[in-house]
Amino acid sequence: MGAPSTVDLELAIDAMLARVRNVANSGLDGFPHHGDTRTGRWTTTPNGFWTGGFWVGELWLAAAYSSDHWFGAKAEEWLAKLDGRVHSDTVFRGFLFYYSAVTGAELFGSDRARELAIDCAQSLAATFDETARILPLGSTAEEAHTVGASEANVDGLTASPLLLWASRETGDDELARVAIEHAYRTADYCVLADASVIQSASFDPNNGNLIRRYTHKGYADDSVWTRAQAWAMLGYTLCAGFRSDEKRLLDLAERTTDWWLDHVPSDGVAYWDFSAPVTPQTMRDTSGTAIAAAAMLKLARLVDDEQKRKRYENAARLSVDALVSDYLTPAGSTDGVPAGILTKGCFDPKSGTAIDSELIWGDYFLLESLGVLTGRLKTLI
Ligand code: GLY
Repeated sequence: MGAPSTVDLELAIDAMLARVRNVANSGLDGFPHHGDTRTGRWTTTPNGFWTGGFWVGELWLAAAYSSDHWFGAKAEEWLAKLDGRVHSDTVFRGFLFYYSAVTGAELFGSDRARELAIDCAQSLAATFDETARILPLGSTAEEAHTVGASEANVDGLTASPLLLWASRETGDDELARVAIEHAYRTADYCVLADASVIQSASFDPNNGNLIRRYTHKGYADDSVWTRAQAWAMLGYTLCAGFRSDEKRLLDLAERTTDWWLDHVPSDGVAYWDFSAPVTPQTMRDTSGTAIAAAAMLKLARLVDDEQKRKRYENAARLSVDALVSDYLTPAGSTDGVPAGILTKGCFDPKSGTAIDSELIWGDYFLLESLGVLTGRLKTLI
């Protein structure tokens, strides 16, 4: 795919798989969330928060890349721990069950994974707000404690691909209707005319009209927080992959991606917010960059135009090469730092949480992208 990389991507996969194995064997007391990049120690969450599905997803990827059933058994074991989250009142169940369950169903035909993904999709669809035409954040969403009931968030877009997948599996058109309406309403609220993305919005519960846009984790209410842009790119690309008849989905995927490419630094690694002043102290966000790379590799397969395909592929490769050569801890280091850690993830500068860390979703999307670029990942997830 594209021009050959000068960075050894196979070696990077080996390092990441070794780390996944070590972490899985380390007696974790919960789902890995953010990690210390010197010791490799994870801060965990007991119930998976919105991030636990990425750990299960990494285990599925490790099983697929290595053909080692041990990883698959671990994935099933961790998936079972998410059982109680199927009906959690948060739109971020989209993250949890797309990556833990759809991934397991698609890569390994796991019956339990299929069942959980469908149950969660049906449960999410039941929360659809027919007035505002969106899946609400939910009372236990990560950000919902700081906002009221009439709020939306582009991070919640991943619910749509979960519902579209479940609709395809079950033939239930209602799931697809909700998924598409949620995706378009999220765009109305969060995607601006130039295709930059603002993380969050308040709406009038009586008619769904937009009241204001703002951010939870970004630099300012009108700033383009890196992961807002990246989640939009990924969400619309995944949706477009399920529904080629809905042209607006592909258009949103392309336009949000083109905005990213027009603004990302020339080394392909984004700062944590596109609107934050850049100084030598400004943090990068490797996790947002990894999401964007994974999204572009998928988008490259959806576009007909050869030039666009190459543009997205080459941009993804540039970012992945940079992440591997400049941010992934190498094998054989003498300072005791474990290999295979994606450093410089920036979780939440506003609260000062994990701003220079390993982040489980950054690891997931880098590992996924490496699988696509090396041909080890055969199925488009
Ligand atoms: N809430 C999703 C994120 O922090 O990226």
